[in-house]
Amino acid sequence: MTAPDSSAPLGVFDSGVGGLTVVRALRELLPDESIIYLGDTARVPYGSKSPDTIRRFSVEDTQFLVGHGVKAVIVACNTATAHALPLLQSTFRVPVIGVLEPGVEATLSDPNCERVGIIGTAGTIRSSAYQYALAMRKPGLQIHAIPTPLLVPFVEEGWTDHPALESVLHEYLTPLLDKGVDTLVLGCTHYPLLVPLLKKMLGDQLRLVDSASTCAAHVKTLLEAQNLLRLPGEKPTLDIYLTDLAEQAEALAKRFLGSTFNKVKKATL
Ligand code: DGL
Repeated sequence: MTAPDSSAPLGVFDSGVGGLTVVRALRELLPDESIIYLGDTARVPYGSKSPDTIRRFSVEDTQFLVGHGVKAVIVACNTATAHALPLLQSTFRVPVIGVLEPGVEATLSDPNCERVGIIGTAGTIRSSAYQYALAMRKPGLQIHAIPTPLLVPFVEEGWTDHPALESVLHEYLTPLLDKGVDTLVLGCTHYPLLVPLLKKMLGDQLRLVDSASTCAAHVKTLLEAQNLLRLPGEKPTLDIYLTDLAEQAEALAKRFLGSTFNKVKKATL
């Protein structure tokens, strides 16, 4: 088996454009790395699909990236990580990193964390992957997980500061606040865009954990350990592929990435 080439790009995939929040964090921490991003916009959302379908889509997404010569794959989708990470890690030869483990690590980085609330898609919460990983690492931790399926459509619509979203969040979060959670895990790649509204609503009442930056830190550690860091030199590239190029996709992608990029390309899986 030939060793991966350190100058090769990182591959990142998500069910849609939400995973660009992870790309944003990767570019901040690893500015010399080139990235190929795949958003499966033709089949989003994954959060309401069955585990078998999520696994099949995740394998196809990873195949696409591996076919483009990436040196590692980052699963920038909580739903895909929750259901397919072990399968991807045992199927492909390149290292595959998910967002869940980094989220768990970030959650437990505060030793005073005693009561955790988790929000995510129905698929992520139903998999119990976060609940299990947290309970394994910190027995006795109180964990309250709830599916919050209405949040992704609000973010996709750009209604991240809308009074209707505030009402929905209030409805979802009240049971968690009643349980006295001290930490809220944002278990979905779309949710970092909710942070300003959540901060406005909750103030310092609880700690918000978003896995994008911890995930980038994990990737950096892995690249260092495997001697795969790309050396500074030629300008790194960012190629964004989407499986469906609907009109609003590019504008939405810009919102998640927080900056502009070259033209989006159509991917066929
Ligand atoms: N990317 C998904 C996640 O992080 C949210 C969107 C979807 O349901 O596909 O769970």
